[in-house]
Amino acid sequence: MSKRILNENKVKKVLYGGDYNPEQWNEATWEKDYEMFHKAGIDIVTLNVFNWAMLQPNEETYDFSRLDASIKRAEENGVNICLATATAAHPAWMAKKYPDVLRTEITGMKRKFGKRHNSCPNSPTFRKYSVALAGELAKRYKDQENIVVWHINNEYGGSCYCENCEKAFRGWLRKKYQTLDALNRAWNTNFWGHTFYDWDEIVSPSMISELENEDKAIFHGMFLDYMRFNSEGMMNNCIDEAKAIKEIIPDARITTNFMGAYKQLDYQKWAPYLDIISWDNYPGPEEEPAHTALNHELMRGLKKDQPFMLMESTPGVVNWRPYNRLREPGQMRLHSYQTVAHGADTVMFFQLRMSPGASEKFHGAVIDHSGRDDTRIFKEVSALGAELKKLGDEFLGSVSKPKAALIFDWETWWAVEGCVGPTTMLKYHDELLNYYRAFHSLNIPVDVVGMDTDLSGYKVVAAPLCYLDKDNFDEKLKEFTKNGGTSILTFFSGYSDENDRIINGGFPGKMLDLTGIWAEEIDALAPAEENSFTYNGTTYPAKLLCDLIHANDTEVLASYEKRFYAGTPCITKNNYGNGKSYYVGTRSNEAFYQNFIKDVCKEAGVSMVLYEGLEEQEYPVSGLEITKRTGEEAEFIFIMNHQMVEKEVILPFAAKDLLLEMSYEAGEKIVMPAMDCAVLKKSIL
Ligand code: GLA
Ligand code: ZN
Repeated sequence: MSKRILNENKVKKVLYGGDYNPEQWNEATWEKDYEMFHKAGIDIVTLNVFNWAMLQPNEETYDFSRLDASIKRAEENGVNICLATATAAHPAWMAKKYPDVLRTEITGMKRKFGKRHNSCPNSPTFRKYSVALAGELAKRYKDQENIVVWHINNEYGGSCYCENCEKAFRGWLRKKYQTLDALNRAWNTNFWGHTFYDWDEIVSPSMISELENEDKAIFHGMFLDYMRFNSEGMMNNCIDEAKAIKEIIPDARITTNFMGAYKQLDYQKWAPYLDIISWDNYPGPEEEPAHTALNHELMRGLKKDQPFMLMESTPGVVNWRPYNRLREPGQMRLHSYQTVAHGADTVMFFQLRMSPGASEKFHGAVIDHSGRDDTRIFKEVSALGAELKKLGDEFLGSVSKPKAALIFDWETWWAVEGCVGPTTMLKYHDELLNYYRAFHSLNIPVDVVGMDTDLSGYKVVAAPLCYLDKDNFDEKLKEFTKNGGTSILTFFSGYSDENDRIINGGFPGKMLDLTGIWAEEIDALAPAEENSFTYNGTTYPAKLLCDLIHANDTEVLASYEKRFYAGTPCITKNNYGNGKSYYVGTRSNEAFYQNFIKDVCKEAGVSMVLYEGLEEQEYPVSGLEITKRTGEEAEFIFIMNHQMVEKEVILPFAAKDLLLEMSYEAGEKIVMPAMDCAVLKKSIL
């Protein structure tokens, strides 16, 4: 089952390194840099991320001389390369000569040359020259043995509303709807007299046309289509570059660096076109570990049968937050192991050396402006480098196999937050995190996956805020539940089809029979207001939204306790086929989600990670984060303490500690120091 993402003949350990932009300093400094890389155990550099202007000084000329030199330098030093295609910032000459590469903002403002990540995805100029550059790079470096992965562009993102995009949007709509009648119906354009009689009447939904603000739309079908179109446009840019590389190097491993739960791009649609998922993880020093972990799961879930790459993280501090508080000693190491614990097979940084000028001159780096190797950061980086060397390739290719899944859908995210009503306070990610946090605190492994995922291997599937019922998801969930699965739905579910056209007949729409309830009204509470309910003897708050529910022949697990709907159901459980369907009609607090998820998982036979496969089930809340990766011959258990105090856990089986190089007996107590991580190996042969 082991699935290595990088060539296993070349890659024998967790690759360690990151973004290195040596064009900014002279070769004498390169020399020193590589000496320090060796000291720190760094064995991969990401080169060429923003070099387009250097590689193509004008329309007719390519000049690879400086890139040749830096590639040669890496080779001479035995360092692997992640080679970027440099297309994330177009050259100034291109913007001057071909203004179609410049984006138009959602506000309607046409940009001039400046910054980066600034090209229009539908610009004929951008498309032509980005693909040409990717092809040139592939031709030039096809035999370069130490290139282990190709990095397309960089952090695709944002959106464009220029005339080229508008024209392309019309073409996209024609292909999707075929007729204007179909489009008018899907978008319900009889509302506010919007009927379109000619494709050319359609304009892109921006702040100067249909949007209330960046997230809120008037015509939700139109809004969703533009979000899809924009994500797909950039995805096509990525696919085009990937194709240009693969034409020349068929076995090239291709990735582009994602940004976790980044709203603008539907990464689940992108994933099939990439060989490797990679992402850039920048947790703040105070970020809740579950928040970071949800991002990891979401990225891992894009290709859940293989590891992913940590493409960027900061060795020290970032510079782009309002204030940039230093991480605690040991926290970079812990964040790095957390990434590996959730499925990464690389640990990479932005950046290896600080820029001498411009906007990232104060961004953390392995080598800072002092150039010294006795800084706190360099010492921490080197210590981790030595540990990763020691770990070798033991767990590379190992994966997670959770029995629970959390459904995360980008289009639902856009739709839920694009709605006008019932509350502006409803945020999709918040609700997903409420559920994820519960699994995480109980150390119950969970896949975070899209609606198109095969659910048959799971025992519990939670689909919070399942507002869009698309691609027959209701049928899938019914099938899963009928066959013995446990499904969890919440308020604001089953409302609309894929174009956000309401499904008539009462909510949760096509899942009325699955849940056995009818949610007639929805009460949006003021921010400080709370209702309450009592579940299993404990009273919890009901916040934000309260569904007013009719439960037919369904078990009522909790009822509201205040206002005119006191005594009506709030949480229900329906037997459906061989399975069970839970419905949670409101938002509550952390304690509720933890207890509820524990009960559901216990009943469904989904274990906490340490007890998987064991007779006796326990759900200790240790305050530690514990994950597991399964390889061919062993399981790897990661125990992490994110707190500033020591914590303990009882190990129910025997295992070997790979970092401390010692063994534990079954039943032994492991004491985890503050901010520490243990990597255990349990043989399964
Ligand atoms: C992103 C980019 C990098 C750099 C870092 C700084 O991840 O990809 O080029 O700007 O942010 O944190
Ligand atoms: Zn555009």
